[in-house]
Amino acid sequence: MAAYDIVDHAYDVVVVGAGGAGLRATLGLAEAGLKTASISKVFPTRSHTVAAQGGISAALGNIQPEDNWRYHMYDTVKGSDWLGDQDAIQYMTREAIPAIIELEHYGMPFSRTPDGKIYQRPFGGMSLNYGEKQAHRTCAAADRTGHAMLHTLYQQALKAKAEFYIEYFAIDLLMAEDGSCHGVLAWDLNDGKLHRFRAQRTILATGGYGRAFFSCTSAHTCTGDGGGMAARAGIALQDMEFVQFHPTGIYGAGCLITEGSRGEGGYLTNAKNERFMERYAPHDKDLACRDVVARAMTVEINEGRGVGGEHDHIFLNLQHLGPQVLHERLPGITETARIFAGVDATKEPIPVLPTVHYNMGGIPTNMHGEVVTLKDGNPDAVVPGLMAVGEAACVSVHGANRLGSNSLLDLVVFGRAAALECAAKLKIGAPLKAIAKDSEDRALARFDRLRYAQKGTLGTAQIRVKMQKTMQAHAAVFRTQESMDKGRALLNDIIKSYDDVQVSDTSLVWNSDLAETMELENLLTNALFTLACAQNRTESRGAHARDDCPDRDDVHWMKHTLAWRDGETSVKIDYRPVHTYTLDEEAKYIEPQVREY
Ligand code: FUM
Repeated sequence: MAAYDIVDHAYDVVVVGAGGAGLRATLGLAEAGLKTASISKVFPTRSHTVAAQGGISAALGNIQPEDNWRYHMYDTVKGSDWLGDQDAIQYMTREAIPAIIELEHYGMPFSRTPDGKIYQRPFGGMSLNYGEKQAHRTCAAADRTGHAMLHTLYQQALKAKAEFYIEYFAIDLLMAEDGSCHGVLAWDLNDGKLHRFRAQRTILATGGYGRAFFSCTSAHTCTGDGGGMAARAGIALQDMEFVQFHPTGIYGAGCLITEGSRGEGGYLTNAKNERFMERYAPHDKDLACRDVVARAMTVEINEGRGVGGEHDHIFLNLQHLGPQVLHERLPGITETARIFAGVDATKEPIPVLPTVHYNMGGIPTNMHGEVVTLKDGNPDAVVPGLMAVGEAACVSVHGANRLGSNSLLDLVVFGRAAALECAAKLKIGAPLKAIAKDSEDRALARFDRLRYAQKGTLGTAQIRVKMQKTMQAHAAVFRTQESMDKGRALLNDIIKSYDDVQVSDTSLVWNSDLAETMELENLLTNALFTLACAQNRTESRGAHARDDCPDRDDVHWMKHTLAWRDGETSVKIDYRPVHTYTLDEEAKYIEPQVREY
């Protein structure tokens, strides 16, 4: 193995990832006076949160004064198909209100109502009075809400004197023998040096793994690095079978067309020009939950009513909204439709298709952001020193299906909660534990092996595209045992083929070949867990829809899946109970019901 000089750092907290969740955590930590390092493989304002469009939910009641966070809680529990933890959902929906006001005070440029309040638009699955009528709950900055949020948080984090390590790639967690986390080993992509970040707490805020699929709305950077690192450290990932398909990705390109477009009055049609959602969700129609809409679109296509020459997509109609609404409320997607679909949305429908958008599963945490696992019969055993927030984490507030605009909310509420947790529990400047030598040696050996993988015969991109096509076909909107088993066999072979990966460049400076190869390893782990957990869950719930087990089965399956890597292609599975209780008496437990829209 080559000799590597490692630059040493000591912090109270190190945050890996500088999207919405990572930045909100970093900001809170820095404000609390904790010495905080934020490590990001991309410039913070290029993190995938920048692409979030439609908005962030909170029952502010700006348009409908009767709105209430308990309605929001109910919608979220129902949207999760009763797999979400109700204590955490109560926390998120109640904290949403102060969290948004705080963002406003940080300077986030929200769109406004005529009387100057934050503008709130309708979004799927959001209702007033427990499903009675559509809520206007999603706070928006036109259709560039993530962009506005990310820039606001980055500027505030700079003001709070957080320290940034930009274009640093996290290689692996530094874990001690007793299973506690002591920091992270990272690679400075710019000058090639390796850096050892030791800290009292390490927070993973690395986002999702949409790029495990062929067609997704996720940035190329969404490679599940946090999940990959956690799995290599022997930590289980939770509920990985639940992958959200956003109904309106642009056909072919996959770019997101916000649900806010249907919130503003857009609707879907099939080849017969029918507004088919009326048949699938008579009450909520085009603003039913995402899993419901994505399935309806897929059925329409499968039954031959898709649009286009090959009858393989659906139209999203915005023409009737008029140029003014599109210009004022939806300028970003109007431009996206023009560039990526060649369509003038003021005049023609946009061709769309359900597209992978979000991972409900991730690294299991409690509502303070601490990573938890099943240990000696305790389902909530904390992994000392390690935390996770945002899409990388699974709190679980989204359960089997996330509501649109609850993602930006999750980032902000739990990023903030993680900072509060650290501020309450950590002593500024407390001495750090000794370097976890064994795990560092393993991380270095892995890095070195990939760096010098010149003798391999398979290019990273070759393996990656096979994985992506396999996942797209076999972990799809509708699943069957047969299709998943087939996909798993293919994926196992793809994982084995990674042993023969070729990295042509041995340099350490901007070696994107090596970085992408390390990302691919993380993607493969996430993909493996997704298929293994999906094969295992013999029911339909939320985004996990099986033709061969069409019903939800609360008796056997109202539980979280935990998955550990157990050898190259095998996965060990166990479970954690769903929290069927609330945080306090301010909210009542919501009993499972049939989920209709
Ligand atoms: O459709 C959208 O604007 C996406 C929002 C979300 O995923 O929360």
